[in-house]
Amino acid sequence: MAVVSISIGGSIMSPHDADPAFIRDLAALLLRKAKKHRLVLVVGGGTPARRYIELCRLFGADESFLDEVGIRATRMNASVLLSAVRGMAYPRVADDLDEAVNASHRFPIVVMGGTHPGHTTDAVTVFMGERLHADRIVITTNVPGVYTADPKKDPDARLLERLTPEKLVEIVGSMPHEAGSKGVIDPLGAKLVARSRIVTYVLDGRDLRSLDSAIEGKRFRGSVISP
Ligand code: UTP
Repeated sequence: MAVVSISIGGSIMSPHDADPAFIRDLAALLLRKAKKHRLVLVVGGGTPARRYIELCRLFGADESFLDEVGIRATRMNASVLLSAVRGMAYPRVADDLDEAVNASHRFPIVVMGGTHPGHTTDAVTVFMGERLHADRIVITTNVPGVYTADPKKDPDARLLERLTPEKLVEIVGSMPHEAGSKGVIDPLGAKLVARSRIVTYVLDGRDLRSLDSAIEGKRFRGSVISP
């Protein structure tokens, strides 16, 4: 049995329109894996988070208020995933790390969203990895792994199949630190990966075969971050 802390990117759960058929397949995979492993699923905010953050920003809301708006969106998405895996899961969206740790000792699946302003659900995923002494951390997003630069903007960007946490910090370090900002992993999350020394996998969450292998600690299509 392995303990795996998994970030389910908002871009996977709620791209433009949430896809119930995909969520059903994702949930079926997670339920299968939870027969053997203990999983914490940290769900991102996706398009709804960004939409509401931008609307509030338009009216002058401050950044930490916008972070709270984002956190609410992550919890709405977490509620959807929890509904789909409820047969084996702690029956509520955990509000904070302590609640999730306690629940994880009693249920094979715990679902949560964001916790506090100032970071994203990537950081929460790494915190949970630390708290549970996880065997691995899996970060799912909508690109196939960590690139040398943003592949949506730079045609020369290269996928890195292996990298050190220090290299990850270097790559994401220049990203803006504001509510709703996009990037493969947020800068604090990257620093926490380096601190935790837990092997971390980054992959496209729509590729369920790779997600299955990553949870098992087997070869998958994506990036392996290890010291
Ligand atoms: P996400 O974790 O979805 O961030 O939180 P993201 O990187 O923008 O999106 P994906 O999931 O990788 O596509 C959305 C927003 O909610 C706030 C932040 O403003 C974040 O950008 N948030 C989230 C927090 O402030 N704290 C949290 O613990 C989580």
